[in-house]
Amino acid sequence: SAAEKGGHDYFMLKEIEEQPEALANTLRGHFDGGRIVLDEQRLTDQDLRDVDKVFVVACGTAYHSGLIAKYAIEHWTRLPVEVELASEFRYRDPVLDRDTLVVAISQSGETADTLEAVRHARGQKARVLAICNTNGAQIPRESDAVLYTHAGPEVGVAATKTFTSQVAANYLVGLALAQARGTKYPDEVAREFAELEAMPAAVHKVLSTVEDVRALGRRIADSKAVLFLGRHVGFPVALEGALKLKELAYMHAEGFAAGELKHGPIALIEEGLPVVVVMPSPKGRATLHAKLVSNISEIQARGARTIVIAEEGDDTVRPFADELIEVPAVPTLLQPLVSSVPLQVLAAEIARARGYDVDKPRNLAKSVTVE
Ligand code: AGP
Repeated sequence: SAAEKGGHDYFMLKEIEEQPEALANTLRGHFDGGRIVLDEQRLTDQDLRDVDKVFVVACGTAYHSGLIAKYAIEHWTRLPVEVELASEFRYRDPVLDRDTLVVAISQSGETADTLEAVRHARGQKARVLAICNTNGAQIPRESDAVLYTHAGPEVGVAATKTFTSQVAANYLVGLALAQARGTKYPDEVAREFAELEAMPAAVHKVLSTVEDVRALGRRIADSKAVLFLGRHVGFPVALEGALKLKELAYMHAEGFAAGELKHGPIALIEEGLPVVVVMPSPKGRATLHAKLVSNISEIQARGARTIVIAEEGDDTVRPFADELIEVPAVPTLLQPLVSSVPLQVLAAEIARARGYDVDKPRNLAKSVTVE
C-alpha cells in the first residue's frame, strides 16, 4: 500500500528518503562515547593490533562500499587494504594468515560468493569481520566479529540506504582499527570521527534539494547511455551510480576513473552523451579537483552533456557544468555519503520515466544465494 511506501509509489523511493535515519542508526549502534563498539566481538584489541593486511570481499553494491573503505582505512591506519569481488577471491589463492583481517560486506548476509569467501578465509586462519544488515544471517554467524548496519529492512532490490550504511560502517571499522593501533594522523582522524555524526544531517540536506535531479532525470531518460566519472573516493561513487542505472533503467552505463579517460573511454564521448562527474571538494585535495576540472573541460569540448556533482559554492566548475548538482561540504573521505544520493535519485527517476518498476528490476533477486 501507499502507506507502507511512505506515500511513494515504490519502496525504493521511501528507502532513499530513510537514509538520514538509517545512517544515524548505523552510527548510534556502534559509536559509544568516542569508542567504536562491534556487535559480536570475538576479536580482541590485541588481534586488531596484530593485523598486518586487510582484505575486503563483497559483491555488487557492497563491493563498491568496500572500494571506498580502502581509501579511508589505508589512510587512517597505514594498513594495506585489498578490495576484491567475492566471486574472484578464493579462486585466486589469496595470501592469508592469522594476521590478515578479512572484512566481508553483505546486506543480506546470505550472498553465496561472499559466504564462500568467508569460509575460505577462515579455513586459512584469517580473522573475519562481517558488516551485515540482517541479524543472525549466515555470514555474521560464521564470522569472528560483526558490525551490523542498522538500516532497517530494504524491500527495493536496488540497494540504497543499505549502501550508505555500509559506507558508514566501513568508516567505523577504519576508526576501530585506528583506535586499537594508533594513527599517523590523530587530528584528522579525530575530526573525521566527529564529522561522521553530522552526516545524517548532511544527507537530509541533500534530500531536500533533489527535485531538480528528478527533473534532470526525466530530461535525459531517452539517452542511449550515460557515463560516470570520478577520482579518489568519487571513483567508486561513479561505479555505483552506473550500477544503479543499469539495474533500474536497463541503460548502458559505465563508471570510470577520470584519469583513465585518455587511455580509452574518451573515444566514447559524442555529441549530447550525458556524463556524470563526481567532483572532489575544492578544499580537500586541490590537485585532484584541478585535474577533474580539466577532464570535464575536455569532455565538454567533445560535445558531452556534463552533469556535475560538486560541493556547494564550488564556482570553478560552473563554466563546465551543463547541469550542476550541489551537495554540502563534508570532509573528502566522507563525501560518498552525500554524493551517492543524487545518483540514486537520478537512476530511479530515469527508470520511472522509462516505465519500469524500480522495486523489482527484471532478472534480479534481492539476494543471490547461488554462486
Ligand atoms: C545492489 O543494488 C544489487 N542489488 C546487488 O549488487 C547487491 O548489492 C549484491 O547482490 C550484494 O548483496 P549483499 O549485500 O546482500 O551481499
